Amino acid sequence: MSAGRSVERAPSPSGPLGDWQAPPGSPAPPDEARGGAGPAGPSWIRAGLGALGLHGLLAQPALYHYLRQGITGGMPFRRFVTLYGLGDPGERVADLGCGPADILRYLNRDRRPQYYLGIDLSESYLAAARRRAAAAGVDARLLAMDLTRIPSDPMIQRRLIDLLEEERISRVLLLGVLHHIPDEAAAATLDLIHRASGVQTLVTQDIVLIAGHPLNNLWCRMDRGVHVRDEAGYDELARRSAWEGHRKEWTHPGFQFIKYIHYIFQRVHSR
Ligand SMILES: C[S@@+](CC[C@H](N)C(=O)[O-])C[C@H]1O[C@@H](n2cnc3c(N)ncnc32)[C@H](O)[C@@H]1O
Repeated sequence: MSAGRSVERAPSPSGPLGDWQAPPGSPAPPDEARGGAGPAGPSWIRAGLGALGLHGLLAQPALYHYLRQGITGGMPFRRFVTLYGLGDPGERVADLGCGPADILRYLNRDRRPQYYLGIDLSESYLAAARRRAAAAGVDARLLAMDLTRIPSDPMIQRRLIDLLEEERISRVLLLGVLHHIPDEAAAATLDLIHRASGVQTLVTQDIVLIAGHPLNNLWCRMDRGVHVRDEAGYDELARRSAWEGHRKEWTHPGFQFIKYIHYIFQRVHSR
C-alpha cells in the first residue's frame, strides 16, 4: 500500500543520512515540502551531520535524551504525558519503539500507568529503558522486536498480539516510530494493534513534511527516520487502518518551527 505522499531516503555509502528517494509509485514531493532543496537535497546537510556523527551519537542511550533536548529546544514531555494517558493509573501501556523510554522521566510519582511494556529494535535502548522504568518505579517489561517484520512474519504477528492480550494492554503508543518504518509495516502494525481487543486507544507521534515550512522540512530530512510523510500520507495510513475513529493533535518542542503530528485512535466498538 502506498499511503499518500511519503519521502524515503536510502542509506548512503558516503554518510548516515543518505539521499531522498520517493518510494516506488509515489509522486515526488514538491520542492517546497522538501525544504526548497533540489532533487537530491542540499548535500552539506548530509556531509555536515556525517562529519558530526550526530546519528551515531543519538544511538547512544545515555546521550539521546540530552542531545534531543538540546537540538529541539526541549520536547514537550509534560504535555505528552497527559496526551498519551501516562498519568492514568488505570492504563496498561505498550510503548512500541520505546527507545530509552525517556518519557518515564516525566511521570508524576502519584500518577503513573499500572504497567509498561516497552518494545524496541535496539538492545542498548532497551537496556536503558529497563533502568529508566526501574528508576521511575514502574512495573515494566522490555522486549526486542522488529516491527518491519510484521507484514511478512506470522510468528511476529502472533507474538505481538499475544503480548498485548496476555499483558492486558489498554493503550498503545507509537511515538516517533511510523516515520522509521515503510508504509506496509506501518499499516500492518496499526491493524495488528487493533486486533488486540483490549487495546482501547492508540497514540502516534511523528515529524511531518509541511509545504511552506522549510525549517521544519530541513529538520525532517536530518532525521534518522527515512519514511517521513506529509500530513496526507499519515492521513492515508489512518484512513485505511482498521481503526474506526481518530482525532489529530499538533504539538511542537521549544523550537516552534518543528511540528509533531499525533493521531489518537479510539476503539469505537468493543468486540
Ligand atoms: C525517534 S525514536 C523514538 C523513541 C521513543 N519512542 C521516544 O519517543 O522517545 C524511534 C525509535 O523507534 C525504534 N525503531 C525504529 N525502527 C524500528 C523497528 N523496525 N522496530 C522496532 N523499533 C524500531 C528506534 O530504535 C527508536 O528507539
